[in-house]
Amino acid sequence: MKKENNNGRESFSSSFGILVALAGSAVGLGNLWRFPYLVGENGGAAFILIYLAFVFLLGIPILLSEFIIGRRSQASARKAFQILAPDENWGFVGLLAVICCTLILSFYSVVGGWGIEYLVKSFKFDFTSASDENLASMFSTFSTSTWTPLICHTVFLSVTAGIVVSGVKKGIESFSKVMMPVLFVIMIGIAIRSLTLPGGEAGVAYLFKPDWSEVDGHTFLAALGQAFFSLSLGSGMVITYGSYVKKHEHILKLSVETALADTIFALIAGCAIMPAVFAFGISPGEGPGLVFITLPYIFGKLPMGGYIAILFFFALLLAALTSSISVMEVIIASAMEEFKLKRKTAVISVFLGIWVLGCLCSLSLGPLNEWKVVGKTIFDLFDYLSANVLMLIGGLLVVFFVAWKLGKKAMHDELTNGGTLKIPNWVIDTLYFLLRFIAPAAIVIIMIFQYVS
Ligand code: TRP
Repeated sequence: MKKENNNGRESFSSSFGILVALAGSAVGLGNLWRFPYLVGENGGAAFILIYLAFVFLLGIPILLSEFIIGRRSQASARKAFQILAPDENWGFVGLLAVICCTLILSFYSVVGGWGIEYLVKSFKFDFTSASDENLASMFSTFSTSTWTPLICHTVFLSVTAGIVVSGVKKGIESFSKVMMPVLFVIMIGIAIRSLTLPGGEAGVAYLFKPDWSEVDGHTFLAALGQAFFSLSLGSGMVITYGSYVKKHEHILKLSVETALADTIFALIAGCAIMPAVFAFGISPGEGPGLVFITLPYIFGKLPMGGYIAILFFFALLLAALTSSISVMEVIIASAMEEFKLKRKTAVISVFLGIWVLGCLCSLSLGPLNEWKVVGKTIFDLFDYLSANVLMLIGGLLVVFFVAWKLGKKAMHDELTNGGTLKIPNWVIDTLYFLLRFIAPAAIVIIMIFQYVS
């Protein structure tokens, strides 16, 4: 992505550039860390099927709606609504997005920090030399300790801030153009090894044979929240990137491609983790530590596993960074606009605020474990509030805005680029129907369920 400047709005250089930027934001810890452990907590294949249905029935139409808002207004999240609906007060949607991104970045940075520690461990060949018992306790010993996770969180957040302070440089974009395929190849390799482990069949069955008996309303909420989190929806990100997209780009195609890339990464991560979980007798419902507990086992059993671990955690960190900068950028852009701050001042203030919140998240897994709000640790609370509450509300407002306020003509106009692209009417009709009725109904029903159950 090119840097935004004040003299005129810049845009992405090519369709591929947009795709890489969007996929860079979408593919991250959501795919490699959050998806596998949610699959494990929510019963496997049935959860995955519900997740896929949400990605395609709701995720793509909502991604498209945010694209429409961003590209049509050519403005960032907060201004976009005001430009498109000047007589009404929609600015609060931008504020919600900023709050949501603040919560996300706080715990995202902690998990990114875990990635740093695990990269350091892989350089020391800790996984290939440790005994099985040590591998099992390694993650909990580390994540519940006080200082190392705090230092790692500080490093991760500093790197994120360092990149954001100088604008989203071409460097990171071209770097992710190389690293995303590398990550893909490494993940495929790990998945193949995991799928062929003795005892891995149970994991394959867990991933592909649905057991509907465990499914309840919470499964739907978790799947919807994950679809939003993984596609970076309902939080102003796609609106902002959409505003850098030129008028001749095929935004429907881009939305579908982004969703597909994101889903493929998530499924590969599932195939890399679950068979190994079963083969090594780890509990699939282990929670947020699942990936960090499971992968070192696999590395310990692979030829050249020590080196693959280095590559993997390096790639994971890059995937995390291309996402964390996009989350921070939403906050920075709004802070600069709202308080007329220089980029540097905005980054320093936001860094300090998020650093404190992130420290609380990190400590809530160890020394502050007893501090609970509505029964959740601070870490869990931030994750829950963002993915299961704020992003869904943001998505609902976006859908409402596009389907009921902008209307079908505007949507047709944006999808076909003013009539120059041939898109069959039934496609537009279906998307419109999904946006107008199905998406809001599904989000509202699922959100209400969590309060009554
Ligand atoms: N989608 C990213 C992931 O899967 C996380 C992310 C990036 C995000 N930007 C976001 C989440 C904006 C919410 C909002 O890791």
